[in-house]
Amino acid sequence: MKRLVSVLVVFTVVLASWVIHVRAQEEVIIINSSLYKKHTMPLVKFNHQAHFDDYGIDCLDCHHIYKNGENVWEDGDETSCEVCHNEPTVKNEKRLPLPQQKLNLKLAFHNNCIGCHRKYNHENNTQAAPITCQGCHTIKEGNNQ
Ligand code: HEC
Ligand code: HEC
Ligand code: HEC
Ligand code: HEC
Repeated sequence: MKRLVSVLVVFTVVLASWVIHVRAQEEVIIINSSLYKKHTMPLVKFNHQAHFDDYGIDCLDCHHIYKNGENVWEDGDETSCEVCHNEPTVKNEKRLPLPQQKLNLKLAFHNNCIGCHRKYNHENNTQAAPITCQGCHTIKEGNNQ
């Protein structure tokens, strides 16, 4: 009986750590916006959880809903960037008129991700946060190009 109990305990611990492991895996997002019928670049693997748990970045540094110029986003609100940033141009997007640029999806991602990475690397005298194309666009499989 004692033996059966300890076998059950070990089994439960193994199962629980496996479940936690699988859940942690899901915190990595392969960003694949449906606004792009064809991707021209490999997809981007984004370690979502590491950004807030390990790098200490606030949800509001990436997620927003602006009301009277204030970011009122709360957990449970919209997280999909393309719901609002639905301007799909991926070439010469910086030549779009300003109001369209603000809603351009590629610029929304690049300004948010690369903007912070540049600043972080500069302030910490490091190159730990990727700023090259190949540093982010790494996933060739599943790319619907
Ligand atoms: C460094 C930027 C960044 C930070 C910090 C961040 N997120 Fe996200 N989050 C994203 C991006 C990018 C997506 C994917 C958006 C897309 O595909 O359009 C996302 C997706 C999500 C999703 C939907 C996918 C999923 O995992 O269920 C939720 C919910 C979410 N974030 C909540 C949060 C919360 C809560 C925090 C703070 C604890 C947070 N995020 C911090 C950038 C970030
Ligand atoms: C609920 C709608 C909404 C969602 C969802 C949203 N945005 Fe925005 N975002 C806006 C609006 C509106 C502005 C323009 C604010 C202004 O006029 O300055 C903006 C501005 C920005 C800007 C600054 C303007 C620029 O082009 O540099 C960035 C960067 C940005 N968003 C990135 C993102 C990212 C990344 C996501 C997803 C994680 C996201 N946004 C989700 C509505 C949204
Ligand atoms: C507000 C700051 C900030 C924003 C916004 C941000 N990052 Fe980061 N990112 C960091 C920091 C800090 C590191 C870690 C540097 C280190 O390891 O010390 C990092 C590291 C990374 C790495 C390499 C390590 C890893 O976790 O895989 C990738 C890839 C990455 N970011 C992708 C993205 C993408 C894609 C976005 C936009 C959706 C994004 N980041 C938005 C701050 C940011
Ligand atoms: C910090 C991370 C990061 C870096 C560095 C980066 N990108 Fe991106 N890029 C993204 C994210 C995230 C998306 C949104 C991907 C999606 O929605 O599928 C994106 C989208 C794009 C798109 C539109 C989608 C597509 O596949 O056609 C193009 C084009 C693009 N990037 C080109 C580049 C080029 C060229 C460079 C180098 C000069 C670069 N990116 C550097 C994160 C990055």
